[in-house]
Amino acid sequence: MDLLQVSGGRPLVGTVRVDGAKNSALPIMAATLAIGDMVELRSIPDLVDVRTMRSLLLSQNADVSSLQDGCLRIHAGRAGGKVAHYDLVRQMRAGICVLGPLLTRFGRACVSLPGGCNIGHRPVDLHLKALVAMGADVRIENGYIVAECERLQGAQIDLEGPFGSTVTGTCNVMVAATLARGRTVIQNAALEPEVTDLAAFLQRAGAVIHGHGTSVIEIEGQEELSGCSYTVMPDRIEAATLAVAAVTTRGEICISNAPVSSMQATLDVLSQVGACIDESTSGLRVSGTGQLRATRFVARPFPGVPTDCQAQLMALLTTVEGQSEVADAVFPERFMHVSELMRMGAQIVQQHGEATIYGGRPLGGADVMASDLRASAALVIAALAASGTTWIQRIYHLDRGYVRLEDKLRGLGADVHRVSQSELRTPHYLMSDHRNRPSINEKGSGAATDQTPE
Ligand code: EPZ
Repeated sequence: MDLLQVSGGRPLVGTVRVDGAKNSALPIMAATLAIGDMVELRSIPDLVDVRTMRSLLLSQNADVSSLQDGCLRIHAGRAGGKVAHYDLVRQMRAGICVLGPLLTRFGRACVSLPGGCNIGHRPVDLHLKALVAMGADVRIENGYIVAECERLQGAQIDLEGPFGSTVTGTCNVMVAATLARGRTVIQNAALEPEVTDLAAFLQRAGAVIHGHGTSVIEIEGQEELSGCSYTVMPDRIEAATLAVAAVTTRGEICISNAPVSSMQATLDVLSQVGACIDESTSGLRVSGTGQLRATRFVARPFPGVPTDCQAQLMALLTTVEGQSEVADAVFPERFMHVSELMRMGAQIVQQHGEATIYGGRPLGGADVMASDLRASAALVIAALAASGTTWIQRIYHLDRGYVRLEDKLRGLGADVHRVSQSELRTPHYLMSDHRNRPSINEKGSGAATDQTPE
């Protein structure tokens, strides 16, 4: 089990590139199951979730090359008739994205219900309701979705849910509609750039799609899709994470391939806080060297502030003098990072899906535990700004969505290292910088800081 050792207090400075977008690569990889020819994908990030999706495609009898320099070659000509097993789907929410492609190409799909998640309840009712509307017989058997339909029929679909639209639901329905009979119109489709990227890929494969990037997407069903090659968009969430880290450490970085047009809401929050944002031919320049101030924001569906940036921005706001307010309208319970940030000295009051941050108290290194992908990133950001050394456990969460984040940060001047528990001759909690440890005063009141071991 790896840990990250972070010695904070060093501003990030320099230039960095982001990898391809995880939340674009995964649905696009899944969509190749609807195509019977060779597909070549480029700018695929070398992430745990990408490896899991590759295993899922292999389990469907697709031929999938190993990932070489960001390039994957996938041929699903012999795919079909296989169960998408719980062991794979439970590891990665995007596993649900094979449902639409399998059903529309083969007339049958058996896909495990996705596993639970630390960021909140994540049903798939909108996905299933849409496929039923397209003529599928859908039932749940022993934790699996069993969907059958000789050929899907185009339909009017509404994907509005209690928390807005559904990103992977829009992906599933869009792919399912590409081979359905007739026209499908998706009302209240997700506007996220990753959905637009998937639509552009499907168009490259011969699909007839209009309106992607708006709330109404129209798809004219075709007889088949054809092989193609496609380059996945840069990861806007990784770029935003690095931008927030630069401001939190009061540094100045340039992200050379940041997809600026898809990260405007997050950049607006950074500007409200007092960061300097400048886009030039060399990339996106972000500086946190000026006077910073508290702010408030609500994470919302695109084009709002992404819920996937909420934790990272909260880490920044703990270092900014004043009272900030954060809420998440997509995943109202997505606050697993709050308790760990408080272990580092942050002052946060969280109730009813909202958090008030009393920023400006200095953060101190501590032993903390990652709970989900973006919460992990928030802990890394806080650790970069904290005095002393922070040990972050369970960083397998981080590896699901960031390619060697520690290398990128070290390239920007951070003192961060990946350490495997087995390498440690001395348990990490005995190695922590002595300044992290509360002094045991006469009354012996020092609080233990060790996390309960995994
Ligand atoms: C995608 O998840 C992303 N994952 C998430 O990123 C992201 O946080 C989320 O969209 C919101 O932007 C991938 O793209 C692989 P939703 P998804 O369906 O599609 C409710 C990360 O960190 N809902 O848009 O699963 C749901 O409970 C990950 O990279 C229903 O009620 O999210 C949530 O409150 C975390 N019924 C809201 O809608 C449904 O059938 C948005 O969920 C589906 C969803």
